[in-house]
Amino acid sequence: MIVLVFEGAREERFGLPELIESGEVTGKSLELTLLHHPQGVLAKRVLAAGAGKAEEFDAPELRRLAGAAVRFLKTKSVKKVVLALDSALAKARNVSAAVEGAILGSFEPDRYKTDDDKKSLESFTVAVEGGSSEVAGAAERGRILAEAQNFTRTLVNEPANLLTPLLMAEAARKMAAEFQLECEVLDREQMAKLGMGALLGVAQGSAEPPALIVVRYKPARGNSQAHLGLVGKGVTFDTGGISIKPADGMEKMKYDMAGGASMLGAMRAIAQLKPAIPVTAFVPCVENMPGSRAQRPGDIVTSMSGKTIEVINTDAEGRLILADALHYAKQQGCTHLVDAATLTGAIVVALGHLNVGLFANDDGMRDRVLAASKAEGERMWNMPLEDDYKDYLKSPFADIANVGGRWGGAVTAAMFLKEFAGDTPWVHLDIAGTAWIDDNKPYISKGPSGVPVRTLVRLAMDW
Ligand code: BES
Ligand code: ZN
Ligand code: ZN
Repeated sequence: MIVLVFEGAREERFGLPELIESGEVTGKSLELTLLHHPQGVLAKRVLAAGAGKAEEFDAPELRRLAGAAVRFLKTKSVKKVVLALDSALAKARNVSAAVEGAILGSFEPDRYKTDDDKKSLESFTVAVEGGSSEVAGAAERGRILAEAQNFTRTLVNEPANLLTPLLMAEAARKMAAEFQLECEVLDREQMAKLGMGALLGVAQGSAEPPALIVVRYKPARGNSQAHLGLVGKGVTFDTGGISIKPADGMEKMKYDMAGGASMLGAMRAIAQLKPAIPVTAFVPCVENMPGSRAQRPGDIVTSMSGKTIEVINTDAEGRLILADALHYAKQQGCTHLVDAATLTGAIVVALGHLNVGLFANDDGMRDRVLAASKAEGERMWNMPLEDDYKDYLKSPFADIANVGGRWGGAVTAAMFLKEFAGDTPWVHLDIAGTAWIDDNKPYISKGPSGVPVRTLVRLAMDW
């Protein structure tokens, strides 16, 4: 059983006063103390989990704490865990967060390790006084969200030899069939007919064929005027192409499809939670490779919108595939768009690994996404997107160049996408710094984070 211990609070149970007195238990955030043979309770062990200052405690803190507790307990071969929340804390928001934290904390990126003795929990229960159907529903919602996020994390973690564009499309088809979503996959010929020259220019360097995944959710009662489009970058591996990346750390570029995987994860949850608004995900999948067929710096491609693009740098490939996917999403009837992409190293320089870079061409849309991100504890920071930046993308030979100069790289990348979102209310999320966690944390393993799945689902649910 896990019990929360707040800093400086009195706690009479389980022999805790003595431990508090001695300084062993302080209630500091994420402090974990395992008590054996606790007094006055049937559980064999009680985990005193530090919850920090009572006045600062919130759902994100509980999410982390549940994750840390589960990760700690599984190393002790514990199989069944009950988290006890007193009535003051037994709100829907906290119950969802606790379930999410436990499921997210349980995830390990060790699928391909064969010799490890893998430890996992059998069950995680939240016990509340006087539980209600509201609280039970919140637990179920938490489970759906966290499992969707882990689905995304599993996809992102797949190496590029085992997750090619076609295999990513297969994974989307399987998920869609399991959750009664429509799924369609456009192949190279279909995309060529649609005139997706920007996307196909990136794909042409690889022996792996491209795929454009479209997954549709339609509400049972269809009276919504709005139609949300979720567009995610699906570069299954980014070598940089002819503008090749340095070898050091290149292995991480298997996560360059995290935006696309987030959209598929969001659809998985949306299928179960059934928002009132129709939602369609578009995931352009390609592998960015150098080779004799690869596009060259200086090549000019014609996008589906008709705009011509000078490809100055083949490593700025995400914006090229998104240009066509955004245009296609509009053509398919989407009235509001969100894209997520591991788009630029520059956003990591600007914001580090803590905030998603958010860019919007519409205040209402920006506010909706920021509100959803705040409610879900996925931090996002509003970035500028002023028309003056467009000058950075001038090309003497085509309508637009695919890179700006040296400075403001995340903004010029967003500015490029803005040209293709046009007048449709749109938010761009640059997740290059937040989709991957570089070091193990007490509450979550290193590897894919599953950001921004929860925000996207809430955006649809709160529409
Ligand atoms: N996938 C990368 C962005 C990236 C960089 C993601 C580091 C995660 C970590 C993207 O395709 C890219 O290569 N962008 C270039 C753009 C540049 C050529 C204008 C970059 O950020 O360096
Ligand atoms: Zn690149
Ligand atoms: Zn990339």
